[in-house]
Amino acid sequence: MQKRIAAITAVGGYVPEYRLTNAELETMVDTNDEWIRTRTGIEERRILKGEGLGSSDMGVPAVLELCKKRGISPLDIDCLICATVTPDLVFPATANIICDKIGATNAFSYDIGAACSGFLFALTTGASLIESGRYKKVVVVGVDKMSSIIDYSDRATCIIFGDGAGAVLLEEDPEGNGIQDSILKTDGSGRQYLHMKAGGSAKPSTIETVMAREHFVYQEGQPVFKFAVKGMADVSYDLMQRNGLSADDIAWLVPHQANLRIIDATANRMGLPKEKVMINIQKFGNTTAGTIPLCLWEWEGRLKKGDNLILAAFGGGFTWGATWIRWAYDAG
Ligand code: UT7
Repeated sequence: MQKRIAAITAVGGYVPEYRLTNAELETMVDTNDEWIRTRTGIEERRILKGEGLGSSDMGVPAVLELCKKRGISPLDIDCLICATVTPDLVFPATANIICDKIGATNAFSYDIGAACSGFLFALTTGASLIESGRYKKVVVVGVDKMSSIIDYSDRATCIIFGDGAGAVLLEEDPEGNGIQDSILKTDGSGRQYLHMKAGGSAKPSTIETVMAREHFVYQEGQPVFKFAVKGMADVSYDLMQRNGLSADDIAWLVPHQANLRIIDATANRMGLPKEKVMINIQKFGNTTAGTIPLCLWEWEGRLKKGDNLILAAFGGGFTWGATWIRWAYDAG
């Protein structure tokens, strides 16, 4: 029997309206526009403002947009997987909250926490549900409200991150386009360089942990940068080699948007010119699980059926990976 292939058949996205510019950050911490732009490529990021709003409030419009584009009802969704490190609550899953808010009452749902690689990990998991033949419509959301865990007095991290959500619908593609192959990797020993110190079961929240600012992202930028450059470039190259893909075969690199220098290094290793690389880090910064689906959302209209895409990510954990997709439709 021929293997079923899962394809992305619609994309939705959402970014909040508020723009946190480099100029505004200059008034908050000892930094400057030139440093931020040359070291990261970021000019502004979006921030979700509003009492009581969480990641689900960005996931909801992203999923509703893809339902509208595909002409389906939330009731048609069999499963919804949400990749996030900033869930609305520690539990239950943000995926459940999104399903409740959109009325996806026929879906089962759960979260995946793999930091910046979360969307890729969730995409692979979602694709295997379609490949199994048991489910017809699986939605994968990548969303993070990074502003909820960023210390805006720490210039090493506050200049990087932003808020946003992207979502894709997965369905079987009878023509065999869609998700062809993935290489996904994890190295937990890297967790020391990028993590949140308190609020988990090993160190529950106390007044002391709050006072010590341990509920914010802790990152040692340089070691993460070193691992990221190598990890993202190597895994993308390995995926090409394993599938006999040359640079000419690839229409687009869809990289996690953590740092323009990491993106450039990955594209160079793959032999791809800049015109084939999706880059929106200047506008949105690093939205963690949101970056890759937000790129697909922005570029959807330019993608053509049969285009080969390599999605690549590196993030906290460490987690990293790459996925080869043969695009399944012309969105026009
Ligand atoms: O998506 C999850 C995975 N995360 C990543 O992939 C992030 C990887 N790391 C990075 O992107 C970079 O390491 C950063 C953008 C975080 C930092 O860039 P860097 O080139 O590695 O800078 P650095 O940490 O080596 O700092 C260089 C200098 C230091 O000053 P001295 O010691 O040379 O005097 C820092 O104190 O820049 C200083 N610095 C800043 N200056 C102005 C650090 N942050 C800032 C800042 N503004 N915001």
